[in-house]
Amino acid sequence: MAMTTTTAERSTGSNSFDLHSYLKYNKDKVDNALKEVMKTYDCPSPLQEAMLYSLAAGGKRLRPILVIAASNLNGSPACDPMPAACALEFVHTYSLIHDDLPAMDDDDFRRGKPTNHKVFGEALAILAGDALLTEAFTIISKAYGSEFPAIAAGVTAELASSAGAEGMVGGQVLDTIATGNTPDIVEMERLHRMKTGALIKSALLIGGIVGGVGPEKLDALERYGLELGLAFQITDDLLDVTGDLVSLGKTPGSDERMNKPTYPKLLGIEAARSLAAEVRDRAIDSLKSFGNNAEPLCAIAHYVVERSF
Ligand code: IPE
Ligand code: IPE
Ligand code: MG
Ligand code: MG
Ligand code: MG
Repeated sequence: MAMTTTTAERSTGSNSFDLHSYLKYNKDKVDNALKEVMKTYDCPSPLQEAMLYSLAAGGKRLRPILVIAASNLNGSPACDPMPAACALEFVHTYSLIHDDLPAMDDDDFRRGKPTNHKVFGEALAILAGDALLTEAFTIISKAYGSEFPAIAAGVTAELASSAGAEGMVGGQVLDTIATGNTPDIVEMERLHRMKTGALIKSALLIGGIVGGVGPEKLDALERYGLELGLAFQITDDLLDVTGDLVSLGKTPGSDERMNKPTYPKLLGIEAARSLAAEVRDRAIDSLKSFGNNAEPLCAIAHYVVERSF
């Protein structure tokens, strides 16, 4: 999994930044690294298959790409960001498997394929999610624990707290409570920031930590990540209304069917779009201190609200 970041990860070499190539280049690297990690498990084969099924199904790999982008903000990162990037994708993939379960959003398609529980059954889907979450922390401790103990501790604390009770899981609980009710704008923002924003913010902070970025710049990355995460989930809510199964890889209309708390439901489509753009601009404003080095992160902020899947 040893990966040395190169300038190709920050820029495509042309004068104007080419986000499409940047995303593709880094997504391919993440996909390969994830495959390598999955080969290392000596576990019951149904578990291996169920974990690999959801991981290898694809996805944008946004969180690992954010780790890599943030780790490059100071030039060469202090240590290889790829293990941390894979750990983020493990946690994210676990969250998707559990989010799709009948007890939660009861969805049939994910990443263009039947959901994990549809193929492997609910028990194995739950356990595959559990294993992905737990193994995320093995990846971190093995990669950084002995050579970079302070980095290992920082990454572990950030990932655990953003995934846990005060982050993603807490947000999923708020989402469950709000299902069938109409939360006000304050509650809506809190639950979106927790269920989705927390992990996205942690991708930025973790990238900053492995990259050796100093405290002031970590603060700026955190502000960017918090706003990017909110803009990301507002857009996810919009795509559930406006997207189609083939592009999204998941069934549109799922939120309406389940009576989920969403921004388009609360504000209407146009106002939700404007809010996403406003939040994106706040995210970009947080990057001023990085100058041109923040080009990939600025471009990603635009992509997050303009994407079609
Ligand atoms: C979907 O995340 C779940 C949310 C947090 C909204 P993504 O849209 O990043 O899903 P993948 O990883 O590309 O499949
Ligand atoms: C998911 O939000 C948040 C997670 C923590 C997985 P959604 O339930 O809206 O995500 P999708 O639309 O199913 O991907
Ligand atoms: Mg959900
Ligand atoms: Mg869902
Ligand atoms: Mg959604």
